[in-house]
Amino acid sequence: MYLHWFLYKASGITYFFTSSLTSYYSNITNTIIITMSTKRSADETTDATTDVVDQQQTNGSDDSHKKQKSEVARTSSKLEKLAQVKKDLDVKEWSSNVTLEELLTSLLDKSERDAFFVADIATIIKQYQKWIKHLPHVTPYYAVKCNPTQGVLKVLEALGTSFDCASRNEIETVLNLGVDPSRIIYANPCKQISALKFARLHNVKMMTFDNVSELEKIEKFFPEAELVLRIAPDDSKSLMRFGTKFGVHIDDCSDLLEMAKEMNLKVVGVSFHVGSGCFDASAYDAALEMVKSVFDMAKTHGMTLNLVDIGGGFTGSDDVMFGKFTDAIRNKTKELFAPDVRIIAEPGRYFAAMSHVLAVTVISKRIIKQEDNRQHPRRTSNNLRQYNYYLADGVYGSFNNIQFDHAKPTPCLLKPSHKQPTPCTLFGPTCDSIDVIARDTQIPELKIGDWLYFKDMGAYTMASASSFNGFVPPPIYYYCSEIDTSDL
Ligand SMILES: Cc1ncc(COP(=O)(O)O)c(C=O)c1O
Repeated sequence: MYLHWFLYKASGITYFFTSSLTSYYSNITNTIIITMSTKRSADETTDATTDVVDQQQTNGSDDSHKKQKSEVARTSSKLEKLAQVKKDLDVKEWSSNVTLEELLTSLLDKSERDAFFVADIATIIKQYQKWIKHLPHVTPYYAVKCNPTQGVLKVLEALGTSFDCASRNEIETVLNLGVDPSRIIYANPCKQISALKFARLHNVKMMTFDNVSELEKIEKFFPEAELVLRIAPDDSKSLMRFGTKFGVHIDDCSDLLEMAKEMNLKVVGVSFHVGSGCFDASAYDAALEMVKSVFDMAKTHGMTLNLVDIGGGFTGSDDVMFGKFTDAIRNKTKELFAPDVRIIAEPGRYFAAMSHVLAVTVISKRIIKQEDNRQHPRRTSNNLRQYNYYLADGVYGSFNNIQFDHAKPTPCLLKPSHKQPTPCTLFGPTCDSIDVIARDTQIPELKIGDWLYFKDMGAYTMASASSFNGFVPPPIYYYCSEIDTSDL
């Protein structure tokens, strides 16, 4: 086991870092260079691990050796791919001796911008390891919409995850990574005809549907598609509820299945999404019971379903909650479905949320006016001033998660301060007054040029950022903190 870890570390190479991200990120190129000692190449790694297994093969049964050998081959192929991704993205090593604040501080001079992201790809790898440990029987199809940057996509591709795409563009982006079309689910129940044609052209067969007109469209433009019926579960235990927009009511499933059969369309399974930001494991229990009843309905129509798609909604940061979700899913899927039924999921924030930290500078500051409209400071009851701070990124940019994702980003000071916290409001840089990041919060007094940082900014942030007022989304600098990859 530790051999792999050693080999992985040993296969370190000079890392270059070039981010070419989708949409707004396509024009941003970061070049930060770090060097690591080149002890062995990735190719050598494969040979070495294979040798070890060959030696061991003399001692045990053929079957277990074959299995072991293929696991080792899989692991070393993942490590090789990760090594390549690190090269492509110019990922720099992040030593455990360096704190987050020290790392961010080291970038201040190098970054010509007033805001930037640091992405730690080890965080994504660790989430993958946790997934495999808790849900080994559930194949993750990463929800690209959550964070479509090249960094996240390439790391997940190297790890062997599949992908949930919602549009032609997302499908194209994922195919361009070299992903086989069988590793994509087109998981938007309402698809554009042009995108359906594109999916057919590229053999992206698996797709969700939840209504009659979608069936008619698919019959006409992609009759060989493999369909997954999206049902509407109880989504009351999630922050973002999708039930009013997507998913067929359980009472209408039978009719839809029958229609699909009459159209000679192939329905392979059932999907649901408990809603994004789910906070109650029982939501998965109830949804899986619904899926089972649709499987039974399908049988009465002479159809055999063999796929369950449990959607997204998984928390990234709360291990206790994730443990509860995964316990529920493991037990329920085992109880309800035969072992040959494929279980897949569409996690988004689970992989992306914790991987990015956003650093932002104070670009302007105002002592808030008294009612007489003069510019001198107002004193609060405990005799403190109040300030407005204007930051280099706001709700039209990375902080759109406040509007769209119910996020409440917590500001952290990059430089510790001994000053007493004072009441303040944090605004974004645009001319719009709704551009507010945090209202009536408490921070020790800041001056222009000071930096704040915000953790857990990887999900639904840059994915939907605009360049309103000409403020372009911040660049991303990639790092890899220390990680044990022996169980990949
Ligand atoms: C169809 C579908 N799958 C997966 C996801 C990802 O959800 P999450 O980020 O909560 O895991 C979403 C989010 O909107 C979605 O709409």
